[in-house]
Amino acid sequence: MPKVIFDTDPGVDDAMALLFLHRHPEIDLVGITTVFGNAAVETTTRNALFLKSAFKIDAPVVRGAGVTFDRDRPARPWPTIVHGENGLGDIDIPNDADLPIGEEDEAAQFIIDTIRQNPGEISIVAVGRMTNLANALAKAPDIAGLVRDVVIMGGSFYVPGNVTPAAEANIAGDPEAADRVMTAPWKVAVIGLDVTTKTVMTRATLKELADKGGPEVSLLNELSQSYIDFYDHLIADAMLVHDTCACVYLVRPDLFDTVTGQIRVSCDGLTDGQTVLKPSHRRFPPGAWDHFPAQTVAVDVAADRVMALVHDTL
Ligand code: BDR
Ligand code: CA
Repeated sequence: MPKVIFDTDPGVDDAMALLFLHRHPEIDLVGITTVFGNAAVETTTRNALFLKSAFKIDAPVVRGAGVTFDRDRPARPWPTIVHGENGLGDIDIPNDADLPIGEEDEAAQFIIDTIRQNPGEISIVAVGRMTNLANALAKAPDIAGLVRDVVIMGGSFYVPGNVTPAAEANIAGDPEAADRVMTAPWKVAVIGLDVTTKTVMTRATLKELADKGGPEVSLLNELSQSYIDFYDHLIADAMLVHDTCACVYLVRPDLFDTVTGQIRVSCDGLTDGQTVLKPSHRRFPPGAWDHFPAQTVAVDVAADRVMALVHDTL
């Protein structure tokens, strides 16, 4: 059973992913590390603590990065139109004062220590900016050889991005970090918009789940309503379950079609944040992709079967 560190920026779809990881019988959730992204890190950490308590999760929440790996990179505005001002659809959540969010960025050290204490056993599922992972790699490159695998929600390869035509939000928010994560000598599976735009939860199904999944799923239903409203421009009365889709890959990779190849991330200009794959089965002249490990990229998904698993697990 994989021991999982969930690196997250809750975030509406992050909340569903967290409950999925907690409830899936073949996953041992050992830590929740937070990062800026859908909101400031103070907010995403507070949200993670709130969700930990609401979902009755034992694993620790560890506050992570509040700024990009390259500190000179200008910050992007928080996507309040997507996740609300408070990152959880603007539902009422307890006052910050009740929740000790910490003051230091301790996520990279937590990731390093947990991997070193459990060689070959830790899977990292990263569904926000890749900043904590890049910081951990920079401090302790040896963890690349000790981790079981890394599954990330991020990027888009054969479909457009979602914050620019070129870039998906988790990568666009910290391209330098993502490039380090993709090119490090560890096993990465990238679950990007190519597949997550196919995994859809309708408002009606979520409501039905809330009626039988206990107060935890009722909470998910409540905090997802404005996110579903936001997605109306793409799909009627439904939401894309980006982050949960990556969690499903961890336990059911057979539900995904994948290709392998080296991945680089564009770090400036018009294509800033674009993920570019050099597929292993194609030949190209020598270039910036060479000498890096081949990673796995999901290009298609048995979406109905993924959603059936999400349904049953929640
Ligand atoms: C990703 O960006 C965030 O808004 C979501 O939580 C997800 O991780 C999708 O592009
Ligand atoms: Ca996320």
